Amino acid sequence: MMDAAEKSSIIRMFHVHYNYGPKKALIDITLDIAKNEFVFISGPSGAGKTTLLKLLYLGEVVSEGQILIDGINLARMSRKRIPLLRRKFGIIFQDYKLIPTKSVFDNVSLVLEAAGTRKRIINKKVRSVLRLVGMEDRINSYPPSLSGGEQQRIAVARAIVGDPQIILADEPTGSLDDESAEIILDLLRGVHIRGATVIIATHDKALMRRTGGHILHLQQGRLETSVYLEKQYDDAIF
Ligand SMILES: Nc1ncnc2c1ncn2[C@@H]1O[C@H](COP(=O)(O)OP(=O)(O)O)[C@@H](O)[C@H]1O
Ligand SMILES: [Mg+2]
Repeated sequence: MMDAAEKSSIIRMFHVHYNYGPKKALIDITLDIAKNEFVFISGPSGAGKTTLLKLLYLGEVVSEGQILIDGINLARMSRKRIPLLRRKFGIIFQDYKLIPTKSVFDNVSLVLEAAGTRKRIINKKVRSVLRLVGMEDRINSYPPSLSGGEQQRIAVARAIVGDPQIILADEPTGSLDDESAEIILDLLRGVHIRGATVIIATHDKALMRRTGGHILHLQQGRLETSVYLEKQYDDAIF
């Protein structure tokens, strides 16, 4: 049992603590996420969800404890390997974080340019991912001319264009209407089906019930529960 779990883990945390000065944001978190899981980090505002996501891609460094990503101990990673670590992740922020002065094409292509991908391939990939999120006709638009739901679709396109192993989404539906939220969820389910590990921070219980998955529930910085929830079909009527 133990061996199988270890082999398939993509993320492991051992007794992780994180403090913002005197404020204890995460306390003694030990968890295990298997490859290709669909995970929700749940919990009320202030529980530590965003902080936990940041620790994974080295947006912050643990105060105490250890994190292994795909078998690599983050504490032992040299600075010059951090960009390689970040390439394992596609990150979706609640406030989209698109560059307003760059076109949709440029916002999405940046990731591939940073990875040194050839122009012709970039062109093909960006078009194909924009088609996937239903935004191909807005390729030359600028983010301020798009609705919130459309901007989040671009943010999803940017997160998945480099085929990352792990998608991190911080309250990706938090500021969207139900219809746009469902589109985003469907896109995330799609990348999960194609093999990625998807981790969504949310306080939306209805959303978790509709999708199901591995729920890691935080409460005041502590991991209170780790459960596997079945999708609840009867909720889908709305
Ligand atoms: N930059 C910061 N400085 C000080 N405290 C912070 C900072 N960021 C977050 N916190 C605190 O850490 C705790 C966890 O925050 P956060 O991870 O953002 O929670 P969540 O995403 O679940 O709402 C909260 O009490 C929050 O006020
Ligand atoms: Mg948050």
